[in-house]
Amino acid sequence: MPLDRLPKNSILCVVGARPNFVKIAPIIAALRQPPAGVPACLIHTGQHYDVAMNKAFFRELDIPEPDVDLEVGSASHAVQTAQVMQRFEPIVEGTDPAAVLVVGDVNSTIACALVAAKRRVPVIHVEAGLRSFDREMPEEINRVLTDQLSDLLFTTERSAEENLVREGIDGKKIHFVGNVMIDTLRTHLKRATPARETLDRLSESTRDAPLKRYAVLTMHRPSNVDRPEKLRELAGNFVRISERLPVVFPVHPRTEKALQKAGLLESLRGASGLFMAPPLSYLEMLGLMSEATLVLTDSGGIQEETTALGVPCVTLRDNTERPITVDQGTNTVVGTDPARMWATIEEILDTGGKAGRIPELWDGRAAQRIRATIERHFESIGS
Ligand code: UD1
Repeated sequence: MPLDRLPKNSILCVVGARPNFVKIAPIIAALRQPPAGVPACLIHTGQHYDVAMNKAFFRELDIPEPDVDLEVGSASHAVQTAQVMQRFEPIVEGTDPAAVLVVGDVNSTIACALVAAKRRVPVIHVEAGLRSFDREMPEEINRVLTDQLSDLLFTTERSAEENLVREGIDGKKIHFVGNVMIDTLRTHLKRATPARETLDRLSESTRDAPLKRYAVLTMHRPSNVDRPEKLRELAGNFVRISERLPVVFPVHPRTEKALQKAGLLESLRGASGLFMAPPLSYLEMLGLMSEATLVLTDSGGIQEETTALGVPCVTLRDNTERPITVDQGTNTVVGTDPARMWATIEEILDTGGKAGRIPELWDGRAAQRIRATIERHFESIGS
C-alpha cells in the first residue's frame, strides 16, 4: 500500500520471521475485531521470504496481507538489522503511529523497536522479559534491548516480570497476559493436518507401514548448526536415535545450508529411520507434534507448544528462556551431550515422560487481554 494511504495514528504491528507470524495472528485479529476495532497496520520486514517460511503461514493463520513489505531478506545481523531500520523509519515518519508493536526476539523486533524509540513513538513488546542469560544467542541481545526500549511490556510467564524488574524496568509498564502463541495453537488445533497425512506425503514407506511412534526434530540455532564438528556429532546422534525411534526432521533453510556445507546432507537422507522434509506448514507441524511420542528441538516456541499439547519435549540447548515449560510443562533441557539425550529419550519411551500442566493464562485469551490493555493505555488511539 502506498505510504500516503496508510492510516495515521494507528498501531504499526511488525513481523519478520516465522515465529512472529504465529504470534501476530491473534493480536491483529483481536485489535481489528469489530464493532470498534483498534486501527492497526501490518508491516512485514521480509526477514523470512521463502513461501514455506512465510506465505503458507499467512494463508493458514488467516493473517491479512501486510500493508507494507520492506523486503529485507537475509544478510549478516548488522546488515539485516540496519536495513530493517532504514526501511522502517520512513513508514514511522510518514504515518505518525500511536505505537509500534513488536513480538518475540528476532532481528526485526529490535530493529523496529529502536527506530520507534528514537522517534519517541511508544513501543509495545509482546513476549517481554524472557531470558536465557546466554549472550551467545543473538536473540538474547534482541530481548534485553527491546525490553529496555519498550513502554508497554506483555509477558507470558511470571518469571519474565522478575527479570524485567531486576533490569530496572518500572513494574507499572509490565502486564502478565499469557501466551499469544498458545492462542493460535488453540484456535487451529482442530484444523491441524492429521500426522498420517503428512507422513504419507513425506515418505512412501510409511504408507505401507504407518508409524505408531515417532519423534519430531527441529534444529536451527547457530550454536548447534554453524560449527561443522558440532553438527557432525549431532547428525550422527540423530541417525542412531532414528534406529530406535523413527525421526521426522523438517529442515530449516539455515540448517540445510549448514548440512550441505559440512557434507552431511546425503548421509542423513540415506538413514532409513530419518524422514527429512522441507519446512512444514503450521497446520502440518501442529498435527505432527500433537501426535508425536516426543519432540527434539532447539526452538523456543516449540518448547511452549509441546507444553500446551502435553507432548514430551527434549530441548537441545544448555538453557531455556522459558523456564515454565520445565517447571510446569513437559520440557527437559538436555543440551547436546549424547548421553543425556539418550537417557531422557529412553525415560520418555519407558514412562511416557513428564505429565506437565498448562501454565497460568495459557488459555487462548492472551490477545484479548493485550487489546484491552492497549485500549486503556492509549485512550485517544485512531482519533
Ligand atoms: C531467525 C531468528 C530466530 C528464529 C528463526 C525462526 C534472528 C536473529 N533469528 O533465525 O530467532 O527462531 O528465525 O525460523 O532474527 N533463509 C531462507 N529462507 C527464508 C529465510 C531464511 O533460505 O525464508 C536462510 C537465509 O538465507 C539464511 C538463514 O536461512 O542463510 C538464516 O535466516 P535468518 O533470518 O538470518 O535467521 P534464522 O536462522 O531463520
